[in-house]
Amino acid sequence: MRVLVTGGAGFVGSVCVERLLAEGHRVAVIDNLSTGHRNAVPPEVEFIEGDLADAELVTPLTESFRPDVVMHFAGETLVGNSMTQPRIYFENNVQKAISFLNTLLDSGVKNFIFSSTAAVYGNPIETPLTEDHPTQPINAYGESKLTFEKVLEWYRRAYRLNYVAFRYFNACGATRFLGECHDPETHLIPRILNSLEEPGAEFVIYGDDYPTQDGTCVRDYVHVVDIARAHMLGMLALAGGCCGIYNIGSGSGYSVKEVMSVVQQVTGRPVPYRVGPPREGDPATLVASSSKLSNELHWQPRHSSLQHIVESAWEWKRNRPRGYEQSTGSGPLLVDHDTCARNCS
Ligand code: UFG
Repeated sequence: MRVLVTGGAGFVGSVCVERLLAEGHRVAVIDNLSTGHRNAVPPEVEFIEGDLADAELVTPLTESFRPDVVMHFAGETLVGNSMTQPRIYFENNVQKAISFLNTLLDSGVKNFIFSSTAAVYGNPIETPLTEDHPTQPINAYGESKLTFEKVLEWYRRAYRLNYVAFRYFNACGATRFLGECHDPETHLIPRILNSLEEPGAEFVIYGDDYPTQDGTCVRDYVHVVDIARAHMLGMLALAGGCCGIYNIGSGSGYSVKEVMSVVQQVTGRPVPYRVGPPREGDPATLVASSSKLSNELHWQPRHSSLQHIVESAWEWKRNRPRGYEQSTGSGPLLVDHDTCARNCS
């Protein structure tokens, strides 16, 4: 298939591109490189640097590339940041995403996969969270993603758009060449790993007074390779006329302190830490039920044991201490098709 990927230079997007190539699909990436890395996109991919709301850029691309499916990863993704800068979240995750979607529809594109988030649920009434759990986001990030999900549903009804929206829980882990690399880094596992490497650095736990077993927040950590696999299945489902919303999580919740302890085990190093105030917009617990994904699309998490997640993230970090700045040579990284095929099969 021909797949147009937005945000293909970002963490989850780049791993999905790796997987698409390994499965023999043709891929074009559009990314404005505001947070993504050019080096994360392999040379065989048609790469367009630019803004997805720019119809003058997107229309010729869709007309020449003629995608069978569009995977939309691009967007703002940080819970804490969304509480202080909500306008960026509504502008990029809603306004620009709608412009992009309208351009796609005008070009005849009908199949769309959307990266949504567990942040749409807010504070759970019941755990694990199923897709029909009420959606009451407590941060602007979740609200922006939920708004766009609703747009997709109205477009399905009016314009026969086929869509799959995946609500990611905590994406993490790494492949051989691709891992988490944000500036600034805000995500838990890379932050703990960074604290081991930087002299004098200290990892800060955001609050230890939540209503959880040890007082720290509980999340569902799901390996990015498992997320990529779900996208491959989503693409097949769309081809078969399926539409819908699916959680992607491992089904197991771990507290911040439990994650720290696994990091200590894997690395053999104690994590220097202190407890700071809670971060605004953080629910106490978010754990997925992925039964719908497993029953309807036959997905299973295969790489999402916390041990394996931390090992892969640690290995990636050790191999690439400067992230994507340190490419294998002058050009982009090479895709590791063999490992990817093994991992994702
Ligand atoms: N945390 C700390 N210290 C840090 C960083 C994080 O204690 O330095 C805590 C957070 O408070 C949270 C947990 O670790 O309880 C995980 O935080 P992340 O920032 O890694 O991830 P979030 O849970 O905030 O958000 C992630 C994705 C969202 C998604 C959400 C769904 O970034 O896109 O998971 O669970 F919505």
